[in-house]
Amino acid sequence: MNTPLIAPSVLAADFANIRRDVEMLNESQADWIHIDIMDGMFVPNISFGLPVCEAIKRHAKKPMDVHLMIEQPDRYLEAFRDAGAEVLSVHYEACTHLHRSLQYIKSLGCKAGVAVNPHTNVQLLEDTIGDIDLVCLMSVNPGFGGQKFIENTYKKVRQLKQLIVDNGASTLIEIDGGVNSTNAPLLMEAGADVLVAGSFVFKSEDPKSTIADLKSLQPV
Ligand code: DX5
Ligand code: ZN
Repeated sequence: MNTPLIAPSVLAADFANIRRDVEMLNESQADWIHIDIMDGMFVPNISFGLPVCEAIKRHAKKPMDVHLMIEQPDRYLEAFRDAGAEVLSVHYEACTHLHRSLQYIKSLGCKAGVAVNPHTNVQLLEDTIGDIDLVCLMSVNPGFGGQKFIENTYKKVRQLKQLIVDNGASTLIEIDGGVNSTNAPLLMEAGADVLVAGSFVFKSEDPKSTIADLKSLQPV
């Protein structure tokens, strides 16, 4: 079993001190920096957009994992690549032509991710799994940080892992929402590769050591 990649979500950072918080992530054992983009349409909240993404990029020394919770994401893929995204995830539920969106992301030189809402069955990815670098399994309904982890996620991780193995794909499984040190080992055991954590990291007393703790957790 591999150690998970840890992707702290800056949605829970202090936006008035974003440079300080990004520098903390640079010094920490975080592998990626998770950036949540919300448009107030696909999800009932607005986070921040391209200028903030560019500002984070100016200080970030780790890959930026951009999670687009927006309608018709194709319109903005190139702009987010230019703003520094290395991984670009679009929502399954927001893409009429998912296969085309995935090819487009790859043509931009980014890793292609697909995020799936809690109600979306992972078997729907059967015909595209070979084209997906990362599936972001939402373990809360997207739109807000600090929500409670949905327990049905474990089952979805196992189903998705099986789908990946059955298709000989090398897709990474990322878990996003309500991740903490209690559910993280269980998620790893179920087959997760990347753990996103917002509140659990940034609201802790010592975010850097919280990241180190997540990194060193062993699967149960
Ligand atoms: C939710 C976002 C998450 C969020 C996670 O819509 O996609 O990335 O920031 O935050 P926590 O870890 O607080 O649930
Ligand atoms: Zn996210």
